[in-house]
Amino acid sequence: MPATVLIGLGWGDEGKGRIIDYLAPQHDLVVRFNGGPNAGHTVKVNDRVFKFHLLPSGMLYPDKVCVIANGVVLDVDTMRRELEEVRGAQERHAQLFVSDRCHLILPFHKILDLVEEKARGKRRLGTTGQGIGPVFADKISRKGIRVGDLFHPGTLKEKLENLLQEKNKLLTLVFGENPLDFYEVYEKLLEDGEFLRPFVTDTLLLLQKAYRDGKSILLEGAQGALLDHELGTYPFVTSTSPMAGMVSLGSGLGPHQVDRIIGVVKAYATRVGTGPFPTELVEGIGQYLRDRGGEYGTTTGRPRRCGWFDVPAIKYVIYPNSPDELVITKLDVLSGLEELKICVGYHLEGKEFPGLPAAFEEFEKLEPVYETLPGWKEDISRARRLRDLPREAIGYIKFLEQALEVPISLVSVGPSREQMIEI
Ligand code: GDP
Ligand code: IMO
Ligand code: MG
Repeated sequence: MPATVLIGLGWGDEGKGRIIDYLAPQHDLVVRFNGGPNAGHTVKVNDRVFKFHLLPSGMLYPDKVCVIANGVVLDVDTMRRELEEVRGAQERHAQLFVSDRCHLILPFHKILDLVEEKARGKRRLGTTGQGIGPVFADKISRKGIRVGDLFHPGTLKEKLENLLQEKNKLLTLVFGENPLDFYEVYEKLLEDGEFLRPFVTDTLLLLQKAYRDGKSILLEGAQGALLDHELGTYPFVTSTSPMAGMVSLGSGLGPHQVDRIIGVVKAYATRVGTGPFPTELVEGIGQYLRDRGGEYGTTTGRPRRCGWFDVPAIKYVIYPNSPDELVITKLDVLSGLEELKICVGYHLEGKEFPGLPAAFEEFEKLEPVYETLPGWKEDISRARRLRDLPREAIGYIKFLEQALEVPISLVSVGPSREQMIEI
């Protein structure tokens, strides 16, 4: 049975959560495999809006199994809050499992995220402040504390003592912050362990069994490929890979076990946080898109920067993700604009520039080359078939399909479940 991975191909916030919610009924399991509480995935059901940071966006379906796999970094308080919200809203919801290998975000990770940002001054990254950079640094340098450690108080104590000694030095001597109290952190971790215990399992084995039993698995990517620290706009990226290939590392399903890759793109471009954004529109139409699209961060509430659709940037990350199909979201937001621009290439110092630059300095000088398409006035939020759309909107979709060279399978025209056009 198929395993499908869905990822964002922009700088995040493409609408992945609502597409997962739309596709979940066709699957048995919904799995998060990367990122952490920096993600904010919105799902709108009737008049109720859920913002998932850690729980998979299939949580609202009682007959599903949801999995937070090993590639996700866990903030136990966030998970607890989200679970309470789901339980408060619905008596029955999906069954949840958490990997014993998930790394834990500890209080000093969050503090370090904030003070390191401050120290970067005008080169700050605009992180979500969730402790992501620091927790992944500990993970990669093999110092991190994992969910499974919580059930071995002796070793946990030893590991935490060493880690906290180092972090307290960093906090006090480098950043002039107060040190953290060992017992406060340790006792909270033991409590967190008791809260997590019923959910914890080896999710690699769980997923492999589900796969062999013929269950259909939907893998929910967080962030977007342009935020990838290998191929995205480094250093203005996140610390875990948002690429389709991350599934094997973050969930334990092998590359041959994934047989459908879906890329989600927004009908225009957005970015939250700092970093290069060649097609950014600072005022005017940028503000129009922000207002109509409600472009404010799901995790931080920060206004998102908005701009025209950027074909070369998206195409650059289409190559290494090899999506079989694309989903276009938020087409309805473009209604009312006289004309629409699409960036189809870049110039750098008078010459065509292929791909995406590696250096920030080159990004600064990059000039987008635009094609102009006619806009449409009509409200399209009630369209449910391609033929319900104005000619110009169909033209816009077809233009993107040709330029990106990947078939478009779904177009969304509003945040609710039913506001979807299957192509
Ligand atoms: P994610 O991080 O990729 O899941 O995306 P977010 O949830 O952070 O941001 C997407 C926002 O757009 C949310 O507020 C969604 O409710 C909203 N949204 C999703 N699809 C559509 C759409 O087709 N039209 C409109 N107007 N809003 C949408
Ligand atoms: P979803 O899953 C949009 C951005 C931050 C910042 C950079 C690094 O909702 O699409 P971090 O806190 O990860 O160290 O921040 O990455 N970022 C996101 N932007 N959507 C996200 O997730 C993001 N997760 C991180 O704004 O620029
Ligand atoms: Mg989001």
